Amino acid sequence: MASILQKLYSWFDSYTERFLREYPHYYVNLNLKKEHTLRVCGITRRLVAGTGLNGEHGVCAEIAALLHDVGRFRQYAEYGTFSDADSTDHGDLSVAVIDGEGLLADCEAEFRERIRFAVQYHNKAAIPHSGDDTALHIAKLLRDADKIDIWHVVTEHYIAGDAAGIASMLHLPDDDTISTRICEDIRGGTIARMEHLRSCNDLKLLQMAWVYDINFPESFKVIQEKGYIDILRDSLPDRPEVREIYHSIMSHVSSRTQR
Ligand SMILES: [Fe+2]
Repeated sequence: MASILQKLYSWFDSYTERFLREYPHYYVNLNLKKEHTLRVCGITRRLVAGTGLNGEHGVCAEIAALLHDVGRFRQYAEYGTFSDADSTDHGDLSVAVIDGEGLLADCEAEFRERIRFAVQYHNKAAIPHSGDDTALHIAKLLRDADKIDIWHVVTEHYIAGDAAGIASMLHLPDDDTISTRICEDIRGGTIARMEHLRSCNDLKLLQMAWVYDINFPESFKVIQEKGYIDILRDSLPDRPEVREIYHSIMSHVSSRTQR
């Protein structure tokens, strides 16, 4: 499996370079996805070590990380957007690229199916039931690693005072609004719903509430080390509802870090 991983890194490099060359007007956005993928691979290696995923299974997780967004390149080239709602589901498209390019042809069937499963469900609302505990572990790990890198990207924008850049991608105003619906979603201990977003502040609260969809204590440790939740809180207005949500989210993070 380790040699397959090395070959896939070379494949990924030439595949993405081809898109960067053929679509120079999309270079910035396509390159963001390339860099995101490579950081998710690094985070995955840490979570593999920190969640007791051994040997070949750990390599499977890194292959899933490397391939999880390969569909993003065709998606942007064909539709000019990363919005799945306005184009096509990019998890499914990544699996189509994996199959179309025969990327996992040299893997044992059991490994191949676990990687395809993790890629397909990395961006869905939930992972379906599976009788394969290792497949579930890899899928959960990939979802955690992906979210950790998205926190990295958005918090850098918020620290730089560029919330508008993030919000504009979702056509949200960067005004002072905080929607009651979003606060209600989060107080219910669930992931806030995208269709309830009305402002950039709502988006930041939704990004805080992603902690309810994080799976492993090791991932919570990364969240604490990097201070993502504090950065999000500091970028929001100092209001009672923000303080209340921040405290319940932090108590969830610290209780899950202990386990
Ligand atoms: Fe993705």
